[in-house]
Amino acid sequence: MPAKKKKKEKKPTQKTVKKQTKEPKVAKAQPAEPQPVETQPAQPQLPEPRRSVAFIGSECYPFVKTGGLGDVMYALPKALIKQNCDVKVILPRYKCIPQEYQDKMVYRGEFMMDLCADGRSFYVGIMEYVWDGVVYDFIDNEEFFSDGNPYTNLIDDIPKFCFFAKAALSALNFMDWTPDVIHCHDWQAGLVPVYLRTMFEDTPVGSAKVMLTIHNLRFQGIYNIPTIAYWSGLPDYVFNKDALKQGYEDANMLKGGLTYANMITTVSNTYAGEIQTAFYGEDLDAHLRYHSGKLRGIVNGIDYDMWDSAKDELLAAPYKAEDVIKKKKENKKALQEELGLTQNEDLFVIGLISRLTDQKGLDLVNAIIPEVIDGNTQVVVLGTGDAKYEDSFRYYEGAYKGSVCSNIMYDEGRAHKIYAGADALLVPSLFEPCGLTQLIAMHYGTVPIVRETGGLKDTVEPYNEFATTGNGFTFDRYEAGLLLDAINRAKTTYFTQRMNWDDMVQRDMNKDVSWDNSAKQYRDLYLELKP
Ligand code: ADP
Ligand code: GLC
Repeated sequence: MPAKKKKKEKKPTQKTVKKQTKEPKVAKAQPAEPQPVETQPAQPQLPEPRRSVAFIGSECYPFVKTGGLGDVMYALPKALIKQNCDVKVILPRYKCIPQEYQDKMVYRGEFMMDLCADGRSFYVGIMEYVWDGVVYDFIDNEEFFSDGNPYTNLIDDIPKFCFFAKAALSALNFMDWTPDVIHCHDWQAGLVPVYLRTMFEDTPVGSAKVMLTIHNLRFQGIYNIPTIAYWSGLPDYVFNKDALKQGYEDANMLKGGLTYANMITTVSNTYAGEIQTAFYGEDLDAHLRYHSGKLRGIVNGIDYDMWDSAKDELLAAPYKAEDVIKKKKENKKALQEELGLTQNEDLFVIGLISRLTDQKGLDLVNAIIPEVIDGNTQVVVLGTGDAKYEDSFRYYEGAYKGSVCSNIMYDEGRAHKIYAGADALLVPSLFEPCGLTQLIAMHYGTVPIVRETGGLKDTVEPYNEFATTGNGFTFDRYEAGLLLDAINRAKTTYFTQRMNWDDMVQRDMNKDVSWDNSAKQYRDLYLELKP
């Protein structure tokens, strides 16, 4: 069904600015006829009792994705359905969502909502799409969500995500759907717990418990107090040092969310510990230590339908664990051909698929590329981000033609081909809350070379050449020499102990990196919150 035209959209102009109380008023507009919602067939083996969960976050594959958060927002709800959860995912309706999905959205209703401290009123539309048993509700407002990118700059993003947090809760009330648990993700949904426990406490949705998951502590949504106080319209008392206030004059949206959440999770156990230290704590380590009683780490998984090397149509030669050794060579040659690299299946191909930012350890990679390229090794980079890294990788491609290929772009298809065609994948991150690329790599029989931090430490067991155990090559301190050493150990194994290497490839493909276990743990936490 085509999306209803948004001709009723009211821009927040002078005309729509009317004096209103700060109470969330949501029930004025008449809800549209509820659209038929696909329900899961009753499955007796599902664990009881059923729990309902509303996910609130800023990105979700395949609608909009800039990194791993988008993958998790897609895959975890799917996995939770298998754990007898009823899941609604609330997202902004960005203009950049591909038309094929915009066309499938169904108009669910609209209302006006007060937002700012002076009671400005904004249009909130709800567009719904039901897919694979998950209900996606998109919050519509052209004023806030018309950029080509979900994130632009803080000046625009702060009002955008104040609006989004309040509109998401208002939409739940409007749809008359009160979940057991509201599960928010990262700073963009950081104000949800704050609104819930203040202005929404006495509304229907106020009976829900709220969980906040930190996917990346580096981003917190910090701006001066007057700006956040104005846009959020939150009461003055939340801007105290135990909640939103940071330093002398700033407000921190994530910090406020952490204070008011019933439960905080992050995406690996090791990261849950690391963020309570000064080095990884991004100035919130003391706050997190204070709230550590409600902090848990649950490692991410990957979606086995999305990442299935046996059925992956993007690959030159799809494969299973039984024929990975042979087929990987075919995928390697196809990749070399497509990228203009020297075509030779005996070369050691190292992949790097990453946002090009300081987090990802790229200065270490840059420091050692000349020593890695030895005539037997190729490096394939796929990523976009900071100009300094884009430029340096372009430089290396020119300097080592045929051996280095830098794909400075975001391209899902190419990512699949690199995961399948490379022998090893580099993830030497400075910090890594979980990391999905090493999980995808292992699932595709590509051996990860990682720094022992965050989720990388929790998911990649170091190779032990004596016991022939482990899944990859690891190093601890953030030093280029140690990364080079890990790469050299990988090369030595690949070139001189190929049987051991091949065994590791098999182990990696057979390792369980699915969401099953972690979805169970989330469900247990939901039950802990709502027994
Ligand atoms: P982060 O969320 O910090 O960026 P993750 O490892 O959790 O890191 O997730 C990254 C996700 O984005 C993976 O699914 C990876 O395959 C994908 N990805 C990163 N860069 C690109 C790119 N340039 N093209 C295609 N996919 C990419
Ligand atoms: C963040 C982290 C990454 C994690 C992802 C999904 O973007 O940087 O480590 O895997 O979120 O949780």
